[in-house]
Amino acid sequence: VLLRDVVVPESRRRPGGPLRVWSAACSTGQEPYSVAMTLLDEGVRDFSVLGTDLSREVLARAREGRYSQLEVNRGLPAPVLVRHFSRSGTGWEVAAAVRAHVEFRLHNLLDPPPRDRQFDVVFLRNVLIYFDAATRRDILTRVARVVRPGGFLVLGAAETAPPGGPWERVDVPRGIIHRLAVPGGRS
Ligand SMILES: C[S@@+](CC[C@H](N)C(=O)[O-])C[C@H]1O[C@@H](n2cnc3c(N)ncnc32)[C@H](O)[C@@H]1O
Repeated sequence: VLLRDVVVPESRRRPGGPLRVWSAACSTGQEPYSVAMTLLDEGVRDFSVLGTDLSREVLARAREGRYSQLEVNRGLPAPVLVRHFSRSGTGWEVAAAVRAHVEFRLHNLLDPPPRDRQFDVVFLRNVLIYFDAATRRDILTRVARVVRPGGFLVLGAAETAPPGGPWERVDVPRGIIHRLAVPGGRS
């Protein structure tokens, strides 16, 4: 919802360059793939999604892009399933057109973030809970270095970035999003 209602309209106003999304601690890949599906459904074509996680096992599953019936039943609307998956045995496989936009890489959030690009949006959901307050703050500061000014950070439903850091809290319909302050205050 945040992607569709906030990020996509905003990226359309901003000229040039692909939309770059980082799904950090992406586990078995549902989030990066569903971001790609949402963007395709919104008519966005020029974008890339980087999915990273600490665990080689979950990344191997993410790269396979195969999910059981039970997994797709959890929160995936039927029309999305029909549009973006094909049958694979008793489960479902993410379509090549979606995979083409998604890349997976091993990354520990305690290390410097991927520096080879500036992201428009970072998803960092349900992972900060594993760290103490000081480490959380360090991670959020490091992540801010690879986000363009005015770019977005999406945390889990019950999570917020501490005030006083680089992230401004923005209340949007049906949730909270964080936004990287723009030098001089213009976005
Ligand atoms: C509870 S899952 C959340 C997955 C997904 N973001 C979501 O909201 O559904 C937490 C994930 O964080 C990953 N993780 C834990 N510590 C990490 C670290 N230091 N760096 C990167 N990923 C980490 C785990 O491997 C796991 O896949």
